[in-house]
Amino acid sequence: MSRKKIVAGNWKMNTSLQEAKNLVERITEQINEFDDIIKIIIPPFPYLEAVAGLLSNKANFYSGAQNCHTNPGGAFTGEVSANMLSSVGCNYVLIGHSERRQYFKEKDADFVLKIKEALKHNLHPVFCIGETIHERKTDNHFKIVTEQLTNVLNQFSLEEFSRFVLAYEPVWAIGTGETATSKQAQEMHAFIRSVVTDIYDSTIANNVSILYGGSCNAQNARELFACKDVDGGLIGGASLNADDFCKIIFSF
Ligand code: 13P
Repeated sequence: MSRKKIVAGNWKMNTSLQEAKNLVERITEQINEFDDIIKIIIPPFPYLEAVAGLLSNKANFYSGAQNCHTNPGGAFTGEVSANMLSSVGCNYVLIGHSERRQYFKEKDADFVLKIKEALKHNLHPVFCIGETIHERKTDNHFKIVTEQLTNVLNQFSLEEFSRFVLAYEPVWAIGTGETATSKQAQEMHAFIRSVVTDIYDSTIANNVSILYGGSCNAQNARELFACKDVDGGLIGGASLNADDFCKIIFSF
């Protein structure tokens, strides 16, 4: 993917089917179809087909999933494969979200397998990275983010990586109301580009979209999106309110 402006709403485990449909309608009716911003709606699995259907004729709107399994199919009760996501019209999939790392103990090796499945089925992986508060306080945030990137990206060719989106989500900012300052976000996003340059080259590093996530909202999005290396946001809580989500989209 070449570097694009992207705003993605990760609804996490929220909404009913009816609320999901209403939210999509209230968002899409406010958006000018001629803007060049990629908008991604990431609902819970059961609503993906309905949401993808509602977005299918809306310019620059796409649907995404919050996770996929490492395997293509089979006896994995309760799991969802990349192939299934693709078959309901989904275009993106979050991989490596900190909640998957923290609550489901997912590791780098899982992310590699999941991304391989996603790519096989024409999904764009949105690969999430970010440090905990302890890692930042002990000045290990650059080291941790380097490891998170290197351990996974080393398993992918430049061509494969060209289909990725990256999301920097400092764990201490997720759902806490505490946002990274624009200085902290810019510093880390530029650093992430330098790590990508070391792994691949500067052209691809300049082309990859890097989203900021972590208490990004209608009040702080403008300042964050003004940073040179911040290409948009991965929004949690504020994406559940149509007006707030649209204000974030209007913040570029
Ligand atoms: P919040 O915007 O609620 O902090 O969540 C961010 C996030 O985890 C998006 O994936």
